[in-house]
Amino acid sequence: MKLAMRMNAFSASIFAELSAYKQQKRSEHDDLIDLSIGSPDLPPPPFVMEALSRYANDPQAYGYTLKGTNEFHEAVAYYYQTSHGVTLHPETEIMYVIGSQDGLVHLPMAFADPGDIILVPDPGYPAYASGITMAEAVPYFMPLRKENDFLPNLREIPHEIAEKAVMMFINFPGNPVPALATEAFFREVVEFAKRYNIIVVSDFAYSELYYDGQKPISFLSVPGAKEVGIEINSLSKSFNMAGCRIGYICGNEEIIRVFGNFKSNLDYGIFLPIQKAAVMALTKGASFCEQSRAVYQARRDCFIDGLASIGWHVDRPKAGMFVWAEIPKGWTSLDFVYALIDRAGVVVTPGHAFGPSGEGYVRIALVQEEDKLLRAVEKLKQSGIFSLKEGEEA
Ligand SMILES: Cc1ncc(COP(=O)(O)O)c(C=O)c1O
Repeated sequence: MKLAMRMNAFSASIFAELSAYKQQKRSEHDDLIDLSIGSPDLPPPPFVMEALSRYANDPQAYGYTLKGTNEFHEAVAYYYQTSHGVTLHPETEIMYVIGSQDGLVHLPMAFADPGDIILVPDPGYPAYASGITMAEAVPYFMPLRKENDFLPNLREIPHEIAEKAVMMFINFPGNPVPALATEAFFREVVEFAKRYNIIVVSDFAYSELYYDGQKPISFLSVPGAKEVGIEINSLSKSFNMAGCRIGYICGNEEIIRVFGNFKSNLDYGIFLPIQKAAVMALTKGASFCEQSRAVYQARRDCFIDGLASIGWHVDRPKAGMFVWAEIPKGWTSLDFVYALIDRAGVVVTPGHAFGPSGEGYVRIALVQEEDKLLRAVEKLKQSGIFSLKEGEEA
């Protein structure tokens, strides 16, 4: 079978390799603890599931929807106004996507030509690179470094790169790095995007997962943002609806018009009951989000404190679903991950899978209940890895 040349760029990823290894090890460790998955382990709010099942029983609900319903657009506008203080026009400044992944991987096709540069965070969520590959564009990595609070340094981007760039992805709170953006940084992004005529795509998938009362700001809340970009979000993480595919893009009217045109060639909209369920979540879900934050914050605290007690001191994330943990000196991320699986039966993701600047870190997802996280700490302790001296192999 002849494959398209572009498939060379989609060779088996480190995620597939690890998944195969995990399966193999499952037979050896009967209680392998998997902290590598980025999918919520908790259910959606009951009133959301109830709406979904009620409308799924309606024989009229099975036609093509083609676009987002007015009700869905109004619910997104309501959510943005009440949650982020951003006013959006429901008809022209909002459009559906089948989860943010749909938007992230397809946006470059509509706005980048082969060879155009797209600026991406490094480390960053892998979908950005997938979309860039599909459009035959070229990524330019913006390193996220601890010394800069994991914000990209726009002044480091060479002028000739910025001139060729057509799009920039940003992601705060991020995956894998759970950093928060400041308003000053977002203002800088707007100025940079205006100067070089770059479309900004702000991935806000973790907007509702924040801790210690420190709420992330929407990119669209800073002056001028709507002139240069869009924000993309979904109900996957905020309302535990990851498999119930629905999300939205909002902001710049022209970007939305063009992308809507492109998407009318790709799909025929989202199943009506899913849109109905999303309306319930967006308009009635605020207290559910508050409860979710409390659950994740408690998990975060017990896990981070547990790690500290065995000598692994890692930063306490301010937001998101992940711990971005610096690994002990003397290991590569990949070797460390294999060692944790082999010796402790705990699975995490190596940082370099998200880009070259991820080397030296692992990503740990807080997608298990507290007792399981504490059990993972215990297993890590028993593995002896954290009592080794620098450079010493167990
Ligand atoms: C940063 C980020 N953006 C987008 C997504 C895609 O999520 P969905 O397509 O379910 O909205 C994920 C999923 O893990 C993510 O971590």
